[in-house]
Amino acid sequence: MVEEASIKQVILKDYVKGFAKESDLILKNSIVKLKIPNQCSNDAVLVKNLYLSCDPYMRGRMAKTDRISTCLIPYGKLTVITKNVEFLKHEGPNVFFVNMTITGYGVAKIVDSSNPDFKKGDLIWGLTGWEEYSLIKSTQGLFKIQNADLPLSYYTGILGMPGHTAYIGFYEICSPKKGEYVFVSAASGAVGQFAKLFGCYVVGSAGSKDKKELMFRVALIRLKEEKFNGRIAVCGMISQYNLEDPDEGTRNLLCLVTKRIRMEGFLVFDYYNLYPKFLEMMVPLVKQGKITYIEDVAQGLENAPNALVGLFSGRNVGKQVVVVARE
Ligand SMILES: NC(=O)c1ccc[n+]([C@@H]2O[C@H](COP(=O)([O-])OP(=O)(O)OC[C@H]3O[C@@H](n4cnc5c(N)ncnc54)[C@H](OP(=O)(O)O)[C@@H]3O)[C@@H](O)[C@H]2O)c1
Repeated sequence: MVEEASIKQVILKDYVKGFAKESDLILKNSIVKLKIPNQCSNDAVLVKNLYLSCDPYMRGRMAKTDRISTCLIPYGKLTVITKNVEFLKHEGPNVFFVNMTITGYGVAKIVDSSNPDFKKGDLIWGLTGWEEYSLIKSTQGLFKIQNADLPLSYYTGILGMPGHTAYIGFYEICSPKKGEYVFVSAASGAVGQFAKLFGCYVVGSAGSKDKKELMFRVALIRLKEEKFNGRIAVCGMISQYNLEDPDEGTRNLLCLVTKRIRMEGFLVFDYYNLYPKFLEMMVPLVKQGKITYIEDVAQGLENAPNALVGLFSGRNVGKQVVVVARE
């Protein structure tokens, strides 16, 4: 007989307008079978979720698709212009659905598989459900974890999608040169540390005293000289995600012309082909303690809604992660 389990799931109560609140998400119990149903394709996996990542883009998915959420959802209508369409097709819904389990990046262990490349016991990171067990209908977009000697939760952050974003923004989009000046907003994370290790002079901004202390590797300098040929990598606009009418325009755009500046937006999943290269650099840096990484840990799915909405006021100090199960 197929084993069953009673599981907790985080459900979207209703589409969100304005600032997301903890009460926009509710906890539900369901009974699920711990086996892949026969009707699933030969590329499905059933996983036990271990760690879930709270990410700012999730706010876009909580909204009903309209003008605002369309430009906020990385996986929304914009996908038609991305290079990696095959991958995106398997990314799941562009928005969360009311009364259904929300999805996000997480680390999980495979408990059943219909794909011989993903075996029972393998550890993966990728898009999964905010629930204790998830049936993932396609393995496309899942990454097998090879360096399981590092804390697994790191694959929600420094070794996963957010860390890879920092790497791409800095190395691929900004094409840094040693000795250049780098400004990093929300600088308590990885980018400032990459820039410092690379030999750049780094200026950072952070929203609280605690976070400023995390920037200890970042030199605070004054930019006196006028700089030309700057590059701006734009990965997000968190301050806009909860605004119903984000009408603030950017001023001084003429400076892009006079200072010969290049400004470029990017989406990390267009660069997942570089993920092995990123890991090759990052894993030794983490193992040697050359990158300082801090997590803000919420224990259990019951604390997940509160952890997620806390992102939008900058309450988290370090990567916000939810522990569903440690093994
Ligand atoms: N393009 C992509 O593919 C991609 C991938 C991943 C992430 N992103 C984007 O990158 C940005 C950072 O993501 P992350 O993973 O580093 O998130 P994170 O760890 O949650 O950090 C976000 C930081 O933003 C600041 N913040 C929060 N609310 C704010 C507000 N209302 N106004 C101004 N600052 C606020 C906070 O720093 P302070 O308190 O120090 O201000 C917070 O620590 C987000 O905009 C996200 O959407 C883009």
